[in-house]
Amino acid sequence: MRQPLIAGNWKMNGTRASAESLIQGVLAGSSGMSKAEIAVCVPFVFLEAGQRLLAGSAVRIGAQNVSVEASGAYTGEISAGMLNEFGCRYVICGHSERREYYGETDAIVAKKLAMVVSAGMTPILCVGETLEQREQGFMEPVIAGQIDAIIEANGIESFGRIEIAYEPVWAIGTGKTATPEQAQEVHAFIRRRIAAHDAAIAEKVRILYGGSMKPSNAAELLAMSDIDGGLIGGASLVVEDFLAICQAG
Ligand code: G3H
Repeated sequence: MRQPLIAGNWKMNGTRASAESLIQGVLAGSSGMSKAEIAVCVPFVFLEAGQRLLAGSAVRIGAQNVSVEASGAYTGEISAGMLNEFGCRYVICGHSERREYYGETDAIVAKKLAMVVSAGMTPILCVGETLEQREQGFMEPVIAGQIDAIIEANGIESFGRIEIAYEPVWAIGTGKTATPEQAQEVHAFIRRRIAAHDAAIAEKVRILYGGSMKPSNAAELLAMSDIDGGLIGGASLVVEDFLAICQAG
């Protein structure tokens, strides 16, 4: 049985004051919720607040990106070691916004996953197809390519140390959600792809859904057999909405 993981991805939002208040709200509102594991992936500059405010609680803190390098002359980069020092449990890798706006390739994403794992944290690997790819019938080859690239670079055993998030690009921030059946189909496809190499790892790996998940659709998405949680963007910025999704998990 896989415990659901509900992770907020704040993206580049918030102020110091709003971040602290949101973290405190999640902390207060989630006490007593026992089913889902809860995490908030915040901008780097709010990690210290997250570490401080969430110390000793069950709510995990996470980051949204990491450098492929361990240290050195890489101006503006943040290493996995630094994130670990700030109490990060999770690091989102290969989000479609990073793939699209910052040119992150599968090879770069594979290196980031390896850096995160070697620093003792858990990466959340994002995969997903664009609307154009789906409409042209390329959804499966696109997802398979993103998964296979990691298997080839890091080995199938690396999936024993990561979480996956299926995020159809057309559903991110658009208000359009994949139906539970559409999402389930892709989640099952991803699990089968991994099972072809290692059935035990496939059974264990958590596959989260991301893309306009909100309180009104979370329960039906999370009820699907291969949907093991959510990676929540917009709704994670509203404490009541995020908590309602956590409750549905
Ligand atoms: O990482 C989160 C996803 O990009 C989903 O964002 O919930 O705002 O659609 P969204």
